[in-house]
Amino acid sequence: MARREIDGIRGILTGASSGIGQALARELALSGAQLVIVARRAERLEALAQELHDAPGRVECVPGDITLDQTRTAAIERARDAFGGLDLVVNNAGTGAMGQFAETAPERLRQVMELNFFAAAELTRSALPLLVEGRHPIVVNVSSVLGHRGVPGYSEYCASKFAMQGLSESLRAEFAPLGIDLLVVSPGRTETEFFDSAIGAQGRPWKELPTMTPEAVARQIAWAIRRGKHEIVISRGGKLLVWSSRLFPGVLDWVLARQTGK
Ligand SMILES: NC(=O)c1ccc[n+]([C@@H]2O[C@H](COP(=O)([O-])OP(=O)(O)OC[C@H]3O[C@@H](n4cnc5c(N)ncnc54)[C@H](OP(=O)(O)O)[C@@H]3O)[C@@H](O)[C@H]2O)c1
Repeated sequence: MARREIDGIRGILTGASSGIGQALARELALSGAQLVIVARRAERLEALAQELHDAPGRVECVPGDITLDQTRTAAIERARDAFGGLDLVVNNAGTGAMGQFAETAPERLRQVMELNFFAAAELTRSALPLLVEGRHPIVVNVSSVLGHRGVPGYSEYCASKFAMQGLSESLRAEFAPLGIDLLVVSPGRTETEFFDSAIGAQGRPWKELPTMTPEAVARQIAWAIRRGKHEIVISRGGKLLVWSSRLFPGVLDWVLARQTGK
């Protein structure tokens, strides 16, 4: 049984200029969602809006850096002015960061946290007054399987996604009496620009792992939004990592200590 319909839902979706966010914008708009899409690359957003012009839904572009308060405020105001309210916030914009902790600078950690954690937290905080008045409102935080298990070579990224996980669990309980659902999405390795644009990226790490398409991830996110799910871990490899971490943490520590953060 669906808890909510995508048709007519009014939302903000960050990181819609590529990858999972772009695929999710298509998935939702084709199902009738009205979306404010946010990312820094304005031309990509405009091209997507153009492509979706005849979709049953509607797309409004707010180009900008989501770590800035002014961008978050502009997105919320656009949703209010264009759609008359807000039922959905998808915190999807994020960056990877690769490298050994001992060799990375403190500024990098702050940069990753600023986007992957603080921007999502503060967009959610600023959107709350509109969300509480929304129709079956829901916040979707796109985390990662690396928000459940830390691995070598990704300490900053794992830290940011663990922070998002903790915040989400607290907010889910706090938001429940307000009627706001909170969904955490934890994709496994997905074929996007993520590995090219990650801070400190050097080629494609963990190449041996199977990948998913962003379209397949987007379909699962849309399904979970409809169902009012709290948590989804996407991909078989991702589920294996999360469950082995819960069941055999010591074994996983041993295995990972033999990796070199490749
Ligand atoms: N790909 C994977 O294997 C994987 C696995 C698990 C979780 N995830 C998570 O999935 C989410 C989406 O990643 P993806 O794989 O789709 O990567 P992607 O293709 O690199 O997309 C990242 C998106 O974030 C936007 N973005 C980056 N910095 C921004 C900023 N300062 N302000 C506004 N937007 C910003 C980018 O747009 P602009 O550059 O135009 O600003 C882009 O639209 C991330 O949170 C990532 O951690 C990805």
